[in-house]
Amino acid sequence: MNNDFSSIRLKCEGCSACPLYKTRNNIVFGVGNPDAQILFVGEAPGENEDLQGEPFVGRGGKLLDLYLNGIGLDRNSNIYITNILKCRPPQNRDPKPEEEEQCLPYLRDLVKMMKPKIIVCVGRIAAQVIISKDFRVTKEHGIFYERKGMLLMGTFHPAALLRDPRKKGDCFEDFLKLQDKIKVLGIEI
Ligand code: URA
Repeated sequence: MNNDFSSIRLKCEGCSACPLYKTRNNIVFGVGNPDAQILFVGEAPGENEDLQGEPFVGRGGKLLDLYLNGIGLDRNSNIYITNILKCRPPQNRDPKPEEEEQCLPYLRDLVKMMKPKIIVCVGRIAAQVIISKDFRVTKEHGIFYERKGMLLMGTFHPAALLRDPRKKGDCFEDFLKLQDKIKVLGIEI
């Protein structure tokens, strides 16, 4: 397998489908191994991501990397990380439904090419878009749902962990469940 996201990325770089293109410094398409079998999807780029063109590079991103590395995953080798929105919403406000709708084709194309075995939704917004519109992170985190031959799981957003460190244990349990699933499915990492 040799997935190449460059044509999807190129389309995204020229995108003006919603007003967010006017305020972006960079699109944040994604980072990682396009041939990976595990895909992480966050919400939208923040300030640092917009400046650097890479997802999860701020304080939250450092925390996410710790959890990933704790179960043998690494953004530079065996997973792919992207967001629902590829452009930063001003002041990091929540994505608007029409922005999600305009941006989702990029994620759909990526998933079609990548065919991941597992998609981890990082935070409520991603889980509500990908798993179900009334997804509740507090109730449903760490649960795997099967859809179209893929397993979907939602967990806490690192920004939520920074706001409330008491959630960190629950979040790491989700990552341990993920580690288990990787083993059960025989995914080589
Ligand atoms: N929050 C997200 O959901 N994604 C990022 O890339 C950065 C912060």
